[in-house]
Amino acid sequence: MTEAELYSLYKGVYVPSNLHHPQSLQNYEDFTFRRDDVIIVTYPKSGTTWMKEIVPLVVSRGDPASVETLQNWDRVPWLEENRAWDLELENRPSPRIFATHFHYNMMPQGFFKVIYVMRNPKDVFTSSFHYYGIASFLVHPGSQGEFLQKFLDGKVMFGSWFDHVKGWLNAEDKERIMYISYEEMIMDLKDSVTRIAQFLEKPLESEVIEKIAECCLFKNMKQNKMSNYSAAPREFLDQRKSEFLRKGIAGDWKNQLTSDEAEYFDSVYKVTMKDAKFLPVETN
Ligand code: A3P
Repeated sequence: MTEAELYSLYKGVYVPSNLHHPQSLQNYEDFTFRRDDVIIVTYPKSGTTWMKEIVPLVVSRGDPASVETLQNWDRVPWLEENRAWDLELENRPSPRIFATHFHYNMMPQGFFKVIYVMRNPKDVFTSSFHYYGIASFLVHPGSQGEFLQKFLDGKVMFGSWFDHVKGWLNAEDKERIMYISYEEMIMDLKDSVTRIAQFLEKPLESEVIEKIAECCLFKNMKQNKMSNYSAAPREFLDQRKSEFLRKGIAGDWKNQLTSDEAEYFDSVYKVTMKDAKFLPVETN
């Protein structure tokens, strides 16, 4: 199926139509945040699911109840998606934890605490290439070369990676945003959990940090039926072709891109990111 059949344009970016009815997008625009709501913001395939495991564990000070009993999409709902509005969000106790793939300039007014996760875009591309091949609500990626061009042009869900990251990096109100990269989390998960706990003003003892980091290791999340998408219907997500928790490493692009493609990617990155206020992630 084509973009015209599967996507709608919302504020200039493609969103999968069957997950984002106009009414859900309107509900999000009208949503009132509480001061202590925590919003995990990502461009897709940058580590959203990982952060949806970490933040609830930090907030519960290591109590695994929510990550053991609630599917990640209910535990930390995407505010732009239809299903969020069946969850009676106003009845949730504070601090509520949400996720969104919105660009900075698409956000509704009045949010207070954002954790922005970014990832090497060549790995985002690689992860996306596999994911678009298994998700029935996304346009099939076609050949790697075709998908690369679409990705670089932002003709994919939630638009351009470059615009997303630049928009959030160039935000004025940085004190309410914590920036963290997937690569930092891979390199030192305990340190990442510690920093997230500090940002959320939930200082934790080192044993609790260790327990959270252990629970959030790729190999352990892969076993968690509440986090590995095994409950998602096959006609929606066909994990026989590629698992949602696929490899969980930094630098897999080296196994995916040809050297010409990597060079082309870098040349586009260099030009497109020159007006970013600081550069987020290594691309090598
Ligand atoms: P790969 O496809 O490269 O393996 P998102 O949740 O934003 O859709 O991102 C999915 C990517 O994050 C996938 O990348 C997935 O494997 C990776 N991921 C999820 N949990 C992880 C973890 N605990 N450690 C490392 N990577 C993780």
